[in-house]
Amino acid sequence: MPTTKHTAALAAIIAALALPVQAYEQGDWIIRVGAANVDPDTDSDPINIADIQTLPGGVDVDDDTQLGITATYMLTDIWAVELLAATPFDHDITLEDAPIDAGSTKHLPPTLTFMWYPMGGKDSAFQPYVGAGINYTYFWDEEVDGELEAALGAIIGSPDPVPADLDLDDSWGLAARAGFDYLFNENWGFNASVWWIDIDTEATIETDVAPDVKFDVEIDPWVYMIGVSYKF
Ligand code: NI
Repeated sequence: MPTTKHTAALAAIIAALALPVQAYEQGDWIIRVGAANVDPDTDSDPINIADIQTLPGGVDVDDDTQLGITATYMLTDIWAVELLAATPFDHDITLEDAPIDAGSTKHLPPTLTFMWYPMGGKDSAFQPYVGAGINYTYFWDEEVDGELEAALGAIIGSPDPVPADLDLDDSWGLAARAGFDYLFNENWGFNASVWWIDIDTEATIETDVAPDVKFDVEIDPWVYMIGVSYKF
């Protein structure tokens, strides 16, 4: 039975639930921190070892999770720029044609995107966004696994492993982006988002028996991030 008292209590609850979740607006900074998983969708060219042997499947690259950080600046109420940074990702590389470890690499994929916030400027707790931009991926600390060096030895009929070096060229490519914040209050929110990044590299394996074995690898990962957002 509704009474004035009940109505007042209800109004208070509604007012509390509707506590000003302040909209994103021009000039805001939004920092997001969370777990970022880089999940490659690898497509590798065959590896032709100096016409001695071809490995048709090339290589595969596994996934890795690191700490991701993004910084966003609202250029207007609905347009923003965002930079992705992270702690270094470390990926194992395996051969597609044989169950052996080929090596590993570290990389950093700084990505600059131009973002659209359709709910920007509106008092909504749900703040989705989409965007597109450019990625630069820097590879370093590429290492060749002993299993691949032993396999190279076997390929040339040697009982000894063949020492090898691996180099991956840095990559420039396009990136696409989508995600959302769910705001708890004026500053803090829950964030979930995804990038697709076009990362193509040329791999070079150097050995004494087959110098400059080159093959292209498309890594083209999906990057998933879940964490918190903070607006100021
Ligand atoms: Ni690609």
